[in-house]
Amino acid sequence: QRPEALPADLTGRRVLVTAGGTREALDPVRFLTNRSSGKQGVAIARVAAARGAEVTFVAANIHAPDPAGSRVIRVESARQMQEVVTAEAKEADVVVMAAAVSDFRPSNYSGAKIKKTDADPDIVALTKNPDILAGLVRDRTAGALRASTLITGFAAETGDDKHTVIDYARAKLERKGCDLLLVNSVAAGGAFEGDTNAGVVLGSDGTEVTIADGSKTALAARLLDVIAGKLRDRAP
Ligand code: CTP
Ligand code: CA
Repeated sequence: QRPEALPADLTGRRVLVTAGGTREALDPVRFLTNRSSGKQGVAIARVAAARGAEVTFVAANIHAPDPAGSRVIRVESARQMQEVVTAEAKEADVVVMAAAVSDFRPSNYSGAKIKKTDADPDIVALTKNPDILAGLVRDRTAGALRASTLITGFAAETGDDKHTVIDYARAKLERKGCDLLLVNSVAAGGAFEGDTNAGVVLGSDGTEVTIADGSKTALAARLLDVIAGKLRDRAP
């Protein structure tokens, strides 16, 4: 079987992809995290590199093989990811924030392993983490990133009796101020650990591209089609 020929439409473009789930430490052996496997982000990085992009891949706790052809930077926590992404984004034409970033971290880190006693433990106090994506948009507005940097966010949403998945996603896109938002509906089960994924790519210009359920590689290819289309209007 011959592999499908890939377009070289990302040649010379610098693409920064984050993936995985951040870990927020309580003590040297324990942490809070989420179910993100990182597979979707790995697929995006791999396909972008195969289409000619220079890819930097920021990996948070991923147990899948590194994407071929990418420069890989490993991080653990949201704050570490923010530091790396803020610096690396300055060199990027495209940022894809596929990582599941922990919204909160334990307010207090214990340098020594927390010991069990006879009493029930204290409630774990939490502090909000920085919003990395919103920070990138702020940096771009402030001129710390080039105005042409294309910023893509991810969102997993469920609808409810008042609003659809797309309603919530449109509101999130506006709140975050990014250019594109890839939305997964998680109502019908998890996109998190499986090997297939479906979604809708919302554009800040009002566009909406539906991606049918398929492999994470296929979704990566369709998302990169939308990104390559946006880049065509921007000088390399
Ligand atoms: N994100 C980020 N920094 C955070 C949280 C999220 O950069 N601290 C990014 C994610 O990588 C993703 C996008 O923002 O690309 C949307 O994440 P999501 O968790 O859906 O958004 P939140 O604003 O955290 O909203 P929610 O209350 O629905 O979790
Ligand atoms: Ca969140």
